[in-house]
Amino acid sequence: MPTVLEALKNRSSIRAYSDKKIPKETLVKILDAAAMTPSGANMQPWVSYAVSNDAVLKNIGDAVIKKMDEGILNDQFIQYYPVKWVNPYKKRRIVTGSGLYKLMEVDRKDNETRIEMWKDNFRWFGAGTVIFVFTDKANIDESQGVLIDCGAYMQSIMLSAQEFGIDSCPQGSTTEFGKVIADVLQTPDNLALLYSVVLGYKDESAKINAYQPKRVKLEESVTFID
Ligand SMILES: Cc1cc2nc3c(=O)[nH]c(=O)nc-3n(C[C@H](O)[C@H](O)[C@H](O)COP(=O)(O)O)c2cc1C
Repeated sequence: MPTVLEALKNRSSIRAYSDKKIPKETLVKILDAAAMTPSGANMQPWVSYAVSNDAVLKNIGDAVIKKMDEGILNDQFIQYYPVKWVNPYKKRRIVTGSGLYKLMEVDRKDNETRIEMWKDNFRWFGAGTVIFVFTDKANIDESQGVLIDCGAYMQSIMLSAQEFGIDSCPQGSTTEFGKVIADVLQTPDNLALLYSVVLGYKDESAKINAYQPKRVKLEESVTFID
């Protein structure tokens, strides 16, 4: 069983899974632990749909891919990525993306393969469970604080999963098609999709899972005032 530090340091986004299913009781334990995530005023603003039904996952994925094929770039409740990228984030994004394509021997100009790789998000990388995290639209009307809470909840899910040997991939790709996903899941009108997290057992033989992007030096992200 990993320590918290080991779980933090060893977790990496996994983009190829075996077809082994997560037992329901394990999924419940992960989500029960994640529900202990602190939130401002104990609002617990996350509203999760834990989907392990293959047909439902396929329907969601197919609906998103259909939109993409129609040339629709997004159909979303919230804008996740910056509209205008500035450095150093722009550079980090390029380095991270090109590292993955290099490992997979995909030319940066090979748009077709890159789009197919992106579509793998909506095939859930072969994983059997996806947690779709929504919040009440009223919570994000004039404030963004609950996004902080729901981000912490995301990490709680991923770290708790580590304890059971379960890997994950957080997904902002689903944020971009939040309305399509809400439509397929027929969620109540007051809910807005924030993101999803894919959960499953990694395919040990998949090359793509070797990718572990590095972080900037601590001095670049932390100012110590002693
Ligand atoms: C909110 C969020 C959204 C993300 N969206 C996606 C996504 O849609 N698809 C994907 O393959 N990775 C996605 N990632 C994974 C990041 O690319 C990854 O966390 C980052 O490159 C660092 O790599 P690591 O998670 O392996 O440490 C997302 C991560 C976060 C935190």
